[in-house]
Amino acid sequence: MILPTWLLLLSGTALADYYNPPISDGYGNWSAAYEKARHFVCQLTLTEKVNFTTGVGTGQTVGYSNSIIPRIGFRGLAGDDGPTGVRGADYTSALASGMNLAMTWDRQLIYEQNYINGAEHKAKGANSVAAPVVGPLGHAPAGGRNFEGFSPDPYLSGIAFGEAVRGTQDAGAIAEGKHYLLYEQEHFREIVEWNVWLAEEPNITDPYSSNVDDRTLHELYLWPWYDGVKNHMGAVMCSYNQANNTHACESDRLLNQLLKGELGFQGYVSSDDGSQFSGVASALGGMDVTGPGETSPNGISGLGESYWGPNLTLAVLNGSVPEWRLDDMVTRVMASYYYLGQDKDYPELNFASGNFDTYGYEYPEAELGWRKINLHLDVRDNHAETIRKVGSNSAVLLKNSKNTLPLKKPKQIAVIGEDAGPNKYGPNGCSDRACNEGTMAMGWGSGSTNFPYLVDPLSAIQQRALKDRTVVQYVLDNWAKDQIGDVSWQAEVCLTFVSAISGEGYLEVDNNFGDRNNLTAWKDGDAVVKQVAANCSETVVVIHAPGPILMEEWIDLPNVTAVIFAGLPGQESGNGLVDVLYGDVNPSGKLPWSVGRKREDYGTDVLYKANGPVPQLDFSEGLFIDYRYVDKNNIKPRFEFGFGLSYTTFDYHGLRINAVPAVPTASISPSQAMRTTNPSICPHTSLNPSDYTFPTRCTPTRGGDPKLWDVVYRVRTTVTNTGSVAGQEVAQLYLDLGNGTPPRQLRGFQKVMIQPGEHKEVEFELRRRDVSIWDVVKQQWVEVTKLGTDIKVFVGSSSRDVKLRGVIPATGKAPSMISSMVPSSSSRMSSVVPSSRFKVTPTPTH
Ligand SMILES: *[C@@H]1O[C@H](CO)[C@@H](O)[C@H](O)[C@H]1NC(C)=O
Ligand SMILES: *[C@@H]1O[C@H](CO)[C@@H](O)[C@H](O)[C@H]1NC(C)=O
Ligand SMILES: *[C@@H]1O[C@H](CO)[C@@H](O)[C@H](O)[C@H]1NC(C)=O
Ligand SMILES: *[C@@H]1O[C@H](CO)[C@@H](O)[C@H](O)[C@H]1NC(C)=O
Ligand SMILES: *[C@@H]1O[C@H](CO)[C@@H](O)[C@H](O)[C@H]1NC(C)=O
Ligand SMILES: *[C@@H]1O[C@H](CO)[C@@H](O)[C@H](O)[C@H]1NC(C)=O
Ligand SMILES: *[C@@H]1O[C@H](CO)[C@@H](O)[C@H](O)[C@H]1NC(C)=O
Ligand SMILES: *[C@@H]1O[C@H](CO)[C@@H](O)[C@H](O)[C@H]1NC(C)=O
Ligand SMILES: *[C@@H]1O[C@H](CO)[C@@H](O)[C@H](O)[C@H]1NC(C)=O
Repeated sequence: MILPTWLLLLSGTALADYYNPPISDGYGNWSAAYEKARHFVCQLTLTEKVNFTTGVGTGQTVGYSNSIIPRIGFRGLAGDDGPTGVRGADYTSALASGMNLAMTWDRQLIYEQNYINGAEHKAKGANSVAAPVVGPLGHAPAGGRNFEGFSPDPYLSGIAFGEAVRGTQDAGAIAEGKHYLLYEQEHFREIVEWNVWLAEEPNITDPYSSNVDDRTLHELYLWPWYDGVKNHMGAVMCSYNQANNTHACESDRLLNQLLKGELGFQGYVSSDDGSQFSGVASALGGMDVTGPGETSPNGISGLGESYWGPNLTLAVLNGSVPEWRLDDMVTRVMASYYYLGQDKDYPELNFASGNFDTYGYEYPEAELGWRKINLHLDVRDNHAETIRKVGSNSAVLLKNSKNTLPLKKPKQIAVIGEDAGPNKYGPNGCSDRACNEGTMAMGWGSGSTNFPYLVDPLSAIQQRALKDRTVVQYVLDNWAKDQIGDVSWQAEVCLTFVSAISGEGYLEVDNNFGDRNNLTAWKDGDAVVKQVAANCSETVVVIHAPGPILMEEWIDLPNVTAVIFAGLPGQESGNGLVDVLYGDVNPSGKLPWSVGRKREDYGTDVLYKANGPVPQLDFSEGLFIDYRYVDKNNIKPRFEFGFGLSYTTFDYHGLRINAVPAVPTASISPSQAMRTTNPSICPHTSLNPSDYTFPTRCTPTRGGDPKLWDVVYRVRTTVTNTGSVAGQEVAQLYLDLGNGTPPRQLRGFQKVMIQPGEHKEVEFELRRRDVSIWDVVKQQWVEVTKLGTDIKVFVGSSSRDVKLRGVIPATGKAPSMISSMVPSSSSRMSSVVPSSRFKVTPTPTH
């Protein structure tokens, strides 16, 4: 998996070339929270502490909720799903998917939508939000839950994840990042789900294991989690799958060593429903709370059996689990609670997930605690505006010939395809949105929410078209060939809608067990487009899908003059789309993955047929997923990663690369940093933790070694709007780090609004981690320039539309000279232009 060349390079490197983690700010602003948490924990009895860690799976919400401790007047915590809003609630918003947020490439919008999510959870009284999602990362394009996350690119995902955590928590709710880690497909994720609920063959005896080498783990799948931890993420949900044949929720390597040790995670780890497989092992492995509390796979057996609960009390009493570990578990939860200030005026839980009755049981399964459970508070505020903005700013314009878009008062429009109209069962008519009926604006599963309304494209288009006295005809039945033929023949512009959908593995749609079976449009979508295009010289295709779809059957047809990938935009779907179709918003979305010409172009896929009773997913492609694979193998994608058109055009000039002078920092050895001893949490329960390798709460760094976040280079360029309308450009920076890394890796992006004829300076900050690779021997990040590598720099408007190239020379080479300035034509994937050097201009750090 790892190319031998890089190991060779390494062996010749002196130890001094590696930087060591310095002593940092301790747990920073968490100190006060930890102090309060410790005070809280130390007044609890053993059974109260155990109770605290063991969720009440049969409670009012879906997520980790614990019980009230009346003795000390603590009313308990409640968490709820998920990434698109408050799951199962009423009078809440239905947000755009995580994938759409990534499609915006807009840090502010990612932050804003997650702020809304946090605010709505808080107003409904939920302490934590099971979101944002960065697992799956997107190993395979057909992966069922990819749309809940952001992008298979770790840098884009990391930035988005960090902003999402910040947004959620600034609103006051705890962000519970999920799913940790290597949860990359739905097939075989859960035994009972697969063997009994779905009753699919062959039977499995354990969830699948994702087997990934250490370097790939760090540079790809673990990468975004650093950003979440850096931004103070309060909780993490561990996943269903195994890693190297150890369950994620009891993996000492994943939880203790990596998450809490290396990354310095300060909050708590919760299980998913049914992802806990042991009592003692999960406690020692680093899990802090059992989400549903119960042993049964969905946590709602009502039997009350638990790996923890009374079992954990026994395990502490018989010495299998040290009491300080139990204290640590509770302390971590309460630290997040205090860190977010939830001890002050946090609203009480005032809804019941999936139940709209005003009165009901607090514990429905046990039929206990009859009370007013639902205040039906409307918490939507003006959030629709942001959702609409995410919709319009995420739409990716893939093709626009013959000046088709924006629409210019067309005399007659045809709207064609089931995906243009409403679901005949209503927007919430399919359980957890598991169907493909009407327009697709949300994927299915626990990441879904109830739509307060859903503006379908047809209604929005009709509304808008009325202003221009445009005639609008439509056909929503994909098989109504005669009617489709008629209306497309008459119309000036034919807006043709196709869709695909996917979701979570516990539900199946048209034989798709969460993961998509194929990458094509559903419901004969390709045939619909081809038929419309045969009779309509301006066929605009709009795609609603949870990831890339193959479009080879029609993309090159001359009458298919425009194509928009709209993703899964949530409740304001039609409005956001109309903004772009009519040019009220100039499209600025860019693809967060590649669009292949065929399925094989991706090099990776879902494992659909079990290769044993415990299916093994060997990620032997290492770092090479999505565009990294495509680039490495010189495959010509249909549309490359980062691609997206605008109604205007942009020019780049002047690439300037400056090294940022290093700030000297005291350092200690990595092992010292990781092995700080665990101070006793409560005086009476302190035990010797020496056999517990990473007593993490005390790890002195948050987000990993602080030096990883130092800005080491600044890259600047100037972008000019050369067209006639204002527009936003996403300027992108890619690096070739050599040493067995992909030919190009995204390491910077900036979205800027530029008026016609004007130009803007764009600056990318390269942090030390961005120019480093993971050294598996030293268990450290190392800057490739210190390995003798010249870093190649590419700046442009996509991963292939490179406008400017430069070089950051290896350490020791021409110390006072750095970089180059070589504007190139927008030649795609041409070889590296020889560089001319210029003097470095040092910039101060701040
Ligand atoms: C602590 O919080 C303050 C504001 O709340 C912030 O300005 C400061 O940077 C934080 N310090 C650390 C170490 O995170
Ligand atoms: C533990 O929680 C249950 C409810 O989930 C409650 O009935 C019981 O009293 C609690 N035990 C203690 C010791 O607080
Ligand atoms: C698969 O597992 C289910 C549930 O345990 C069982 O009912 C079924 O008989 C099994 N099928 C086979 C072929 O073993
Ligand atoms: C899995 O095994 C590989 C190969 O031994 C190793 O590099 C990697 O660190 C392991 N991952 C985990 C999570 O233990
Ligand atoms: C203890 O755990 C076992 C599974 O290991 C379970 O069968 C049992 O019901 C648990 N006991 C309680 C009281 O929950
Ligand atoms: C301690 O109790 C736990 C929970 O019942 C059990 O799983 C474990 O095997 C026990 N350990 C010993 C050494 O008895
Ligand atoms: C094109 O339109 C004409 C007139 O309505 C119709 O007869 C014909 O079948 C249509 N062609 C297709 C391919 O739908
Ligand atoms: C792809 O899957 C969808 C949904 O199951 C189905 O409608 C469609 O016919 C499939 N496409 C192909 C080419 O098999
Ligand atoms: C394009 O559409 C026109 C109708 O406007 C039709 O006459 C022509 O045959 C179509 N071209 C193709 C290649 O289908």
